[in-house]
Amino acid sequence: MDIDLYFSEKLREWFEQREGRYLPWKEGQDPYKIWLAEIIMQQTRLEQGLPYYERFIAAYPTVKELAESEEQKLMKLWQGLGYYARARNLQASAIRVIEDYGGTFPDNYDDILSLKGVGEYTAAAIASFAYDLPYAVVDGNVYRVLSRYFGQELPIDSSAGKKWFKAKAQALLWEDDPANYNQAMMDFGALHCRPKNPSCGDCPLAENCGAKAKNRQLELPKKGKKIQIRKRYFYYFVWRGANGGYYLRKRQEKDIWQGLYEFPMIELDKSLKTSELKSLWAHWELEEQDWALLSGQEQQQLSHQKIIARFLWPKAPLNQALAEDWELVEVQDWADYPLPRLIAQYWEQKQLAFF
Ligand code: ADE
Repeated sequence: MDIDLYFSEKLREWFEQREGRYLPWKEGQDPYKIWLAEIIMQQTRLEQGLPYYERFIAAYPTVKELAESEEQKLMKLWQGLGYYARARNLQASAIRVIEDYGGTFPDNYDDILSLKGVGEYTAAAIASFAYDLPYAVVDGNVYRVLSRYFGQELPIDSSAGKKWFKAKAQALLWEDDPANYNQAMMDFGALHCRPKNPSCGDCPLAENCGAKAKNRQLELPKKGKKIQIRKRYFYYFVWRGANGGYYLRKRQEKDIWQGLYEFPMIELDKSLKTSELKSLWAHWELEEQDWALLSGQEQQQLSHQKIIARFLWPKAPLNQALAEDWELVEVQDWADYPLPRLIAQYWEQKQLAFF
């Protein structure tokens, strides 16, 4: 049998007898719910994303509520998911659905793809899951399953590779059931053809699997470029105000964590030794004896950056002239302020250490 046909048939058999996962956004084929879930789930594991999805749907049952949300509320709901531009794009697209499409989600691939934050993967997922349109999704699962089965060594981040995987995923699509084909590819990749310990022993595709024949399962898929990780050093100043609150500043810059709040800080591209911290004190017009407390290094790994932070606690009161755009926020009100995970975690540990 032709290996493409074999793949499609075996995958279908596997899908029909697999243990299904409950995906609440797929009930009723509501394009709004599918779109929202797919954006939330990007770069996020299902178990981690599900509670976010549930909170979003509770807060924004339809695209209208999402379009009308205050930005800060949206960012707070998003807190911890990372890639905060996704949240902003989500709202920009919700507004477009209201304004350009009269509140009805677009029902064809090109219009769906034209929404901000919607790439080829998400457009294919919405088009197939909501409208049964024949567009194959290509995500990390699909790259893995196809590279292994076909023994495809082209890097998935090369243009030749991208083209091959997209064409192959499309060629294998079950024309009579695009939605379940896409779900089957994702589920097979996530549950069976797993990244680290694939179930090759009882794999329905094993007989024709190119990777298995050469024992290259763990070498595939191939990636070309090594990503460069940039290290950034954030020195945070935890400044207590007269009301018992702390000064926070909203990150306005087009950079990580845009729209989130953090303590006032100085960023450097190298780490300072404790004896070199003086150079920072001068920035806030502080003297050496004004320092009380210094945290150890706190780190957060992002996709292309590593953030290495230390927290400094000045003893001296703040010179108000420095406060510029800082906001004095009482701790009980922090629940309304979206914070980077690094800050939220530091604060939580700090409380545990105190009490
Ligand atoms: N992650 C994103 N979309 C998904 C889907 N439809 N099924 C399972 N995991 C997913």
